[in-house]
Order: sequence, then C-alpha cells, then structure tokens
Amino acid sequence: MNILVTGGAGFIGSHTLIELYKAGHTAVVVDNLSNSNPVALQRVAEIIGVPEIPFYKVDIRDREGLEHVFAEHKLNACIHFAGLKAVGESVEKPWEYYENNIGGTLVLVDVMRKHGCKNIIFSSSATIYGDPVEIPITENCPKGQCTNPYGWTKSMLEQVLMDIQKADPEWNVVLLRYFNPVGAHPSGRIGENPNGIPNNLMPYITQVAVGKRKELGVFGNDYNTPDGTGVRDYIHVVDLANAHVAALKCFTNALTHSHNNTFIYNIGTGNGYSVLDMVKAFIRVNGVDVPYSIKPRRAGDIATCYCDPSKAKAELGWQAKYGIDDMVRDSWNWQKNNPDGYPE
Ligand code: NAD
Ligand code: WQD
Repeated sequence: MNILVTGGAGFIGSHTLIELYKAGHTAVVVDNLSNSNPVALQRVAEIIGVPEIPFYKVDIRDREGLEHVFAEHKLNACIHFAGLKAVGESVEKPWEYYENNIGGTLVLVDVMRKHGCKNIIFSSSATIYGDPVEIPITENCPKGQCTNPYGWTKSMLEQVLMDIQKADPEWNVVLLRYFNPVGAHPSGRIGENPNGIPNNLMPYITQVAVGKRKELGVFGNDYNTPDGTGVRDYIHVVDLANAHVAALKCFTNALTHSHNNTFIYNIGTGNGYSVLDMVKAFIRVNGVDVPYSIKPRRAGDIATCYCDPSKAKAELGWQAKYGIDDMVRDSWNWQKNNPDGYPE
C-alpha cells in the first residue's frame, strides 16, 4: 500500500516508516516539524536503503497543503500520528491542543474522504481509560475521565472517527491505544528527541545517564504497587511500529462494509513494570549509574496501568517481541550516540 504518514518525522512515525518499507509498503510523509527534525527522515531513508522518503512540510490544518499531497500521490490509507502530545503543556494551552489535534484531524479526514481514501489508523492512547476500572485493561474497559486536555483530544477523536465511520460505512477506522512507548531503533540512528525537560520517564532516565540532568525524580513511592512506585506497560517502539503494519490487515481484510468497521486494539506487552524496575534494569543492562531521589506524586498520575494485548494477537497476529532489557538497551544506545538529539 502507499500510505500517508502524518507526523512521520516524529518518534513513533519515524520508526513506523522503517517497518512499513520492510513489509513492502511505501509512504508519503506530512509533518509541520513542530516537534521533529527532518534529519530523522534522512536517517530513516539510510536505514531502509532508499534515496529519500517523500516528504511535505505541511500542517494537517492546511487544507490546500493536504490537497496538493493527495493530488500528487495515490494514497490507500493514512497512519495519523500528527499531534501535540505534552500532557503538562496541554493543561497550560488547552485551546492550542484542541485546535491542533482535533481541528487538524477534522481537516485531514475531510480531505481524505474527498479523495476517496477512507482507511485510517489513529494514534490513540491508554490515557483514554482514565483511572482504569480493570487491570489488565481490555478494550472493553469503559473509557474514563481524562486528567488533561491532551487526553481529552484522544478520547474525543476516537468518538469523532467512530461517528464518521458509522455515518459512512466505506470508512475503516483503526484506533490503536498505545501504552508507554520507549526504546529506539537498534541502529541507534533514530530515537526520541524531546524538546526541553522530558516529561516521560525513559528520556529523563537517559538524560540523567548521559549527564545532562543531575538526578531522576521518582514521583511517589507510596502507591499501592509492589514497590510503591507507579507501574506501566512499557512497549518497545519497534514493536509498536510493527503493530501499525499488522493493523493494515483491517483494510485489506475488511470483509464487507458492514457498519462496524471500527477496530480498537490495546498495544502494549501486557507486563507492568514499576519506575524502580525500569531504573534498575537500565543500570544493570547498560552499566551506567542513574542517581534518583523520591519526590512527591505527580498530579494526575495513576498507580497502575497495563493492558491485556490478546485481542491484537488474536485478530492482527501481532504481539510484542522485545522485553525490558531490549527497551533500556536501545534507549541508551540512541541517547549515548546522540547526546544532543538530532543535529539542527
Ligand atoms: P512526536 O511529537 O514525536 O510526533 C508527532 C509529530 O507530529 C511531530 O513530528 C510533529 O512535528 C507533528 N505534528 C504535530 N502537529 C502537527 C500538525 N498540525 N501538522 C503536521 N504535523 C504535526 O510524538 P510521538 O511520540 O511520535 O507520538 C505520535 C502520536 O502518538 C501522537 O499523536 C501522540 O499523541 C500519540 N501517542 C504517543 C504516546 C507517547 O508516549 N509517545 C503515547 C500514546 C499516543
Ligand atoms: C511513567 C511513570 C510517573 C517521569 C504519559 C501520558 C500518556 C501517554 C504516555 C501519550 C509514572 C513516573 C515519570 C519522571 C517519574 N502519552 N515518572 N519521574 O504518565 O504513564 O503516560 O505518556 O499519549 O498519555 O500521560 O508516562 O513516562 O510520564 O510516566 O517517576 O521524571 O514514571 O510518575 O509512574 P505516563 P510517563
């Protein structure tokens, strides 16, 4: 298939491009580079062994820009990563988050349908479960109260896409609910490149390990978990990338357009690891120190979040292959080889 990849220069998008090409697909990338660097795409092309990945510096809110891309390429499907994703920032700038993530997706979907491209995979998130009412979380777990505007954009966009599919059964909508993506391509050439102080645990750990930050703050050790620190379902980004390739089946196998071609999958490993499990694994596997101290809980955090990924295995034939040692090794391999991220 020839696939439009929005946000393809970002962390998960860049890794997904590699797995798409490895599986025989091709891609056209649209990204406004608001949180990414075009060097990532050059490196993706090197890894794949192609001269370049077709790329348009276009904002998904820019209808004319998107029209131009669709006029130049025959596109069978879209993998839609583009969006703002910083939880804390979304609390400060809710309008910007709703406008970019929801406004952008509405424009994208409208241009897609005008061009007869009605297959979309959307980057959703475990955050839509709120404080989950069941652990491990299955796809039947009710959606919950999000604690920030970022989370609400994901929850609302799931609803928007499901409603669009219901109204026009030619659409195939895949909602992939990612758990906690970490790791990097084993080459160490591409990885997560956060601006400023990292919000997420793994890039914070790697920046402490490389000497850019003094110590990790562990947000709370009084949760009801085995060691008191928060438990999450970390998933290697290469596994996550491959889940998108597997999910393309929903388009080719979509039997009839039967009014329910909305496909929802949890994408995690099914294993819960605590903050201290991650820190200890990082130190053990990489032989580098990660000083840390216990800090108060972070507002909005929950104790435990991990999934039951068996639906993705049963229906897509996908399951995670990488374990915690691979995740911490590849995260460090990227950080140590690129201490300042991509060159500007
Ligand atoms: P990222 O910031 O690295 O990638 C997102 C890309 O989208 C960036 O390259 C950015 O420049 C681009 N972008 C943002 N707004 C745009 C717009 N209006 N037009 C065009 N391009 C735009 O983030 P990521 O970690 O790769 O996440 C990809 C997707 O997965 C996001 O939608 C994110 O919300 C979702 N997600 C991420 C996580 C995570 O922890 N990383 C977890 C669950 C879901
Ligand atoms: C993991 C654990 C923290 C940083 C977030 C978003 C979610 C999704 C994934 C996009 C928690 C602890 C963290 C630190 C710490 N993103 N921690 N010190 O909060 O599970 O999920 O990213 O959709 O929407 O909310 O991930 O990596 O921030 O935190 O102790 O410096 O690490 O308290 O227990 P989270 P995270």
